Amino acid sequence: MSDTRKILVTSALPYANGSLHLGHVLEYIQTDIWARFQRARGNDCLYLCADDAHGTAIMLKAEQLGLTPEQHIAHMQAEHERDFADFLIAVDNYHSTHSEENRALSSMIYRRLSDNGHIASRTITQAFDPEKQLFLADRYIKGTCPHCGTPDQYGDNCEVCGATYSPTELIDPVSAISGSTPVEKESEHFFFTLPVFTEFLRNWTRCDTLQEEVANKLAEWLEEGLQEWDISRDAPYFGFEIPDAPGKYFYVWLDAPIGYLASLKNYCDRNGRDWLEYWRRDSTAEVYHFIGKDIVNFHALFWPAMLNSAELRTPSKVCVHGFLTVNGKKMSKSRGTFINARNYLDHLNPEYLRYYFAAKLTAGVDDLDLNLDDFIAKVNSDLVGKVVNIASRTAKFVSKSGGKLADALADAQLWNQFVEAAPHIADAYEQREYARAMRNIMALADTANAWLADKAPWSLAKADNSQAQVLAICSQGMNMFRALITWLAPVLPVTAQKAAEFLNNELDWNGATTPLTGHQIKPFKPLLQRVDKTQVDAVMDAAKESLAQLQAEAKTATGPLAENPIAEQIPFDDFAKVDLRIALITKAEYVEGAGKLLRLTLDLGGETRQVFAGIKSAYTPEQLEGKHTVMVANLAPRKMRFGISEGMVLAAGPGGKDLWILEPHAGAKPGMRVM
Ligand code: MSP
Ligand code: ZN
Repeated sequence: MSDTRKILVTSALPYANGSLHLGHVLEYIQTDIWARFQRARGNDCLYLCADDAHGTAIMLKAEQLGLTPEQHIAHMQAEHERDFADFLIAVDNYHSTHSEENRALSSMIYRRLSDNGHIASRTITQAFDPEKQLFLADRYIKGTCPHCGTPDQYGDNCEVCGATYSPTELIDPVSAISGSTPVEKESEHFFFTLPVFTEFLRNWTRCDTLQEEVANKLAEWLEEGLQEWDISRDAPYFGFEIPDAPGKYFYVWLDAPIGYLASLKNYCDRNGRDWLEYWRRDSTAEVYHFIGKDIVNFHALFWPAMLNSAELRTPSKVCVHGFLTVNGKKMSKSRGTFINARNYLDHLNPEYLRYYFAAKLTAGVDDLDLNLDDFIAKVNSDLVGKVVNIASRTAKFVSKSGGKLADALADAQLWNQFVEAAPHIADAYEQREYARAMRNIMALADTANAWLADKAPWSLAKADNSQAQVLAICSQGMNMFRALITWLAPVLPVTAQKAAEFLNNELDWNGATTPLTGHQIKPFKPLLQRVDKTQVDAVMDAAKESLAQLQAEAKTATGPLAENPIAEQIPFDDFAKVDLRIALITKAEYVEGAGKLLRLTLDLGGETRQVFAGIKSAYTPEQLEGKHTVMVANLAPRKMRFGISEGMVLAAGPGGKDLWILEPHAGAKPGMRVM
């Protein structure tokens, strides 16, 4: 039997209705480091993810964007995959819950639940939007708080006084989607009979499947008593129709975790493997779900119970992490601490954040703070000042002696500290105690730097006949660096790759503490730059800008313009195509035979244009001569009965006597661009 472990790792599937932010990135980095560590150890480790593409929110968002849900989720998935790649998150497959695999697996699992008697149905009463013909979840109902009287509060809680209530208690409730008054309506729903699984879950949650603090929380929930879980939604809904139940759809959270299986099946079908190798009841593969603390109920109650009913195995572990805060505050749109993945990537190296998160991540569920000053200090002092420094201060002396490492170590006792640390570092990674792994690695980097400072090969090199000694010291430096960067490779894959190139050696976890001797290396190349505060400031500025844009997009305008638009929305670039200029009316004349027109001679600052304007009913030539106005200067010339009109002056009003041409404030000069 081989001791290669067969492992499947997943991260929670991000919703396809928005961009990824650094909170998501925390989870994906945590998972990716673990998966890379497992692969480095020689285990067979698959890391899978997908977009969670269903639900009312995604349906409404697509509608707001004027897209089909399929178009909208395709755009979002492309964006998410780019963010994953650029943060060096090496998933083996990125799929979607809106896929044929997921449709088939969801139906199959639902049928098993149903055949096993774990689906109940009954009629419930729910708020309904009579205008949109849509059942309304609590968060889509707004009204006046029944406790403090603040208007415009959401369905289930008041942001001002903190009261919680049911939407039926709201005063003057309205649908947040259409503004109409909701009515009560009955509908048949399907339920998963979760309480039947209470004993099973009591046992499952105590089988080393969860962190202790999470298991304790679940014990409380189990004590309070479980309720049946409503797994159906009525049309219109973006999702999968329930087999044999026309007009009824799976609630997004039913098919979301099945998306893990769908992503796996999609991968296996393309790679000649069988997804059941991982999920049949007697599978010896290990399955790990990495998730945030907000979705524990779905992963540690509903999901294992569903799998159990569907006669599939349950996950080996659900690994729960806390939430990311920024500078000590909750990531929030109103506080300006909401940073998108792309805001970061546009200005900073992803490895900085990977290291910073690693240096703070434990196996616990505590929140993790991204403190930006600490971020700069830590990256610069640890990565550049400690680790890279070992290589940059020793490599050049090895090169000077011909680039071949010494045949033996200079200090075997020192090396032994590295050998002894190796299993502890591996253990810390395995336990998801990355902060401990990073502390161990940095302590060794400190030891290495202190030893080098003491040996001072750079001073020694100036003495005669010191070459062999300098080479021995620096070769040990190279070996210490090699071990450290091998252990950091799950966190810093790009830097590790660069190091492997100049060390002329494939980094290998198991060989990290076997020193390289008599080995030819290549010339050293810079590995990692220092972070600069201006880059971090640029990220924060970009974050504020994207936020402002989001808020502007979210505002659905009402009023005469929205109800009676005269033209569709255009991007700024389209507007910029119009060349608007200040023009001086040097001459205005009646045109023989033209009932409505005046001929205007316009000065654009050294260039003259003739324009026929239909404003004779409102102006005499004398009222216009000498005045400034605004003209469209790049309008294609138009041949009229009386001559060619070379543009257009801007005027407002319905016509006849009620017509007013635009006049700029004093100071605007002929030829100036109007923007
Ligand atoms: N679509 C569901 C998950 C379905 S899994 C079958 C979902 N999506 S999400 O986009 O809201 O969140 C995805 C993951 O990111 C979740 O694990 C969530 O906990 C995590 N995070 C979201 N915000 C976060 C922080 N601020 N900090 C850390 N993790 C965060 O939930
Ligand atoms: Zn209130």
